[in-house]
Amino acid sequence: MNIILDCDPGHDDAVAMLLAAGHPDIEIAAITTVGGNQTLEKVTRNALGIATLANITAPIAAGCDRPLVRDLLTSAEIHGESGLDGVTLPPPAMDLDPRHGVDLMIDTIMESEPGTITLVPTGPLTNVAMALRKEPEIASRVAGVTFMGGGVGVGNYSPVAEFNILVDPEAAAAVVSAPWPVTMVGLDVTHEAQATPDVIDRFRSLGTPVGQFVVDLMAFFTESNESEQAFASPPVHDPVAVAQVIDPSLMSYLASPIVVETSGAHTTGMTIVDRRPWMSYDSRSRAALTLDVERFWDLVISSIGRLR
Ligand code: BDR
Ligand code: CA
Repeated sequence: MNIILDCDPGHDDAVAMLLAAGHPDIEIAAITTVGGNQTLEKVTRNALGIATLANITAPIAAGCDRPLVRDLLTSAEIHGESGLDGVTLPPPAMDLDPRHGVDLMIDTIMESEPGTITLVPTGPLTNVAMALRKEPEIASRVAGVTFMGGGVGVGNYSPVAEFNILVDPEAAAAVVSAPWPVTMVGLDVTHEAQATPDVIDRFRSLGTPVGQFVVDLMAFFTESNESEQAFASPPVHDPVAVAQVIDPSLMSYLASPIVVETSGAHTTGMTIVDRRPWMSYDSRSRAALTLDVERFWDLVISSIGRLR
């Protein structure tokens, strides 16, 4: 499976990168960064550092530094001033790809065999919306889009809006309405993917530098999620999207059109999914509803355990 990871590392984006790097069936075709958890400059530096740690050799390019029409909202309270507080990154062993992230995304898709690339955005959807606008053909060339964001009637940055969608709702609206298969991996499933003390002990027991790196990441992430969102154990959102691509049977789904609210006084950034039991859709979009938590962590820990 070939993926483009479009991310804003971010503690959980970092775990998503490590999962993708460690799983034998995943080929990372490209990594693009987007302003989100922190400024573009900071998340790009973080992406290079994680890639160095995990020996990722895919091209990495910096994308959009702000949403399509709004000011950038960051998440320093969850991820710290650096975007990855709590760990020290190795100096980057590679240069950034000179292209804009949106161009790297387009080129990678258009130069690959049709149906071979899955786009996996784990940050605001600005780059993906820009790529669609610049080269609409990408919609028929990808295998699909699996994004971390949204939720079915659940939010974190507002009662009804999840951070990635709230940061750039116009971009999210464009992405879910484009003619490609979309899987929304939202808070319904990612809130189940908590790094409990048992899970953190399993990373520690790997006995590898990368395993210890995840332990250190989770120490900061546990504290920030506890103080900001009252989670005793932090939900590690972004690797759930990568896991969905590796093993779709980890989740159950509801097929439904998905729309994003862009103008509600109280509901901007809400993802609307039709849960009425009497409605049935033969839809190209679906929302993940439940997660097999044990199998999810087995997958993440065994994959990251392969990284040396
Ligand atoms: C999402 O927001 C970010 O803070 C995380 O990295 C994740 O992608 C969760 O709402
Ligand atoms: Ca993210």
